[in-house]
Amino acid sequence: MGVEKYVKKEVAALMKTSRGGTRSSMGPTEGMINLGAGDPDFDQPEFINKAVYDAMAAGHTHYSFTGEPDFKEAIAKYYEKYGVKIDGKTQVLITSGGSQAIFQAFAAILDPGDELIVFDPAYTGYNSPIAYFGAKMVRAKQVKDKEGHFRPDWANLEAVITDKTKAILFCTPDNPTGTVWTKDELRKLAEIAVKHDIVIISDEIYTELIWGDKKHETIIDIPGMWERTIVLMSFSKTFAWTGCRAGYIIAGPEMTKAVSAVPVGICSMPVPFQKAGIVALEEGWDFVEEMRVEYEKRLDYMVERLNAIDGIKCAKPQGAFYLFPDISDLGVPSMKFAMDFFMQEKVRCAPGSGYGEMGEGHVRFALVRPIKDLSEVCDRLERFVKNLPPQAPPTVP
Ligand SMILES: Cc1ncc(COP(=O)(O)O)c(C=O)c1O
Repeated sequence: MGVEKYVKKEVAALMKTSRGGTRSSMGPTEGMINLGAGDPDFDQPEFINKAVYDAMAAGHTHYSFTGEPDFKEAIAKYYEKYGVKIDGKTQVLITSGGSQAIFQAFAAILDPGDELIVFDPAYTGYNSPIAYFGAKMVRAKQVKDKEGHFRPDWANLEAVITDKTKAILFCTPDNPTGTVWTKDELRKLAEIAVKHDIVIISDEIYTELIWGDKKHETIIDIPGMWERTIVLMSFSKTFAWTGCRAGYIIAGPEMTKAVSAVPVGICSMPVPFQKAGIVALEEGWDFVEEMRVEYEKRLDYMVERLNAIDGIKCAKPQGAFYLFPDISDLGVPSMKFAMDFFMQEKVRCAPGSGYGEMGEGHVRFALVRPIKDLSEVCDRLERFVKNLPPQAPPTVP
């Protein structure tokens, strides 16, 4: 007997596309190199593991409602490095990873029928929660600058705003494009948000992974933004903690109160990990720097190799550890490219079309393997591209 008749209609719709929490096991696995998912290959350092154990041994194993006060204070102190003064007690909410931060932020603001604007291309993890709340995802185009980085198309953004628009969500540094928003772009977005009285959701989970001379800027302290901004953060990439589920929201006191009122139960980030989170924020920065340096070496290596392949163009990302090369000159749709590359060469990457229409003509590589594996990926990619059937010449109208 099917359960659909018992199930909330939005969930029934999501069941049709959901993998039920399992990863696809289709295709070759031996010799496979997985650059499809953004799960860092670095392990959590021993001193953080020990901090988790020490917290349990010290009896920190009890209920914590919206998060441990000393963890929230440590987060507030950390975020000051972006020039913003926040009060840990009233402006930080602990979540179980960035994904729960997304869900809880949406739960607080989205009514059925509301429109939420995300940029195109954008991270896919926003799609299902928007659908779950019966809201509508609307895409605002990004266009490439002369260096090949996707940037907002302001005219298109203004054009897709309607009287149903509740919020605009953006991500800096961005997954998948690697773009880091400038302060001027943030000011422009803030101006639009204030003019149309719209909430801004600012996904900043890659804040610590920025390359070259760029620097992370936040939108929350621009005049008019405190009351309408929800910042989403996570330890997943910063401290390579994807399995430990540590995330948080930063917002103005009233918005924090609203998001805290979402009945998700008791704070689901385990207390010993919250205590270890304090240690990570105090002592974990050498580890973060080690990862950062290694990621940048990987990026530089692979950007050079990709650009040496005929038909592929790859800008060096400004932040985050993904490459989003343009493969449009190869004339193969990104989904077919990703599937065939996997079946023929056992390398997983993500098709750009999954991130939105503007992502077509691109694939995403998550640089979560050491250079020796990336070198092997590039060798396989060269062979794969060489063996692509010749393209039909463009038709003359
Ligand atoms: C842009 C972005 N936001 C949010 C998340 C979710 O973070 P978490 O892994 O902490 O749930 C991810 C994960 O890859 C992401 O790339």
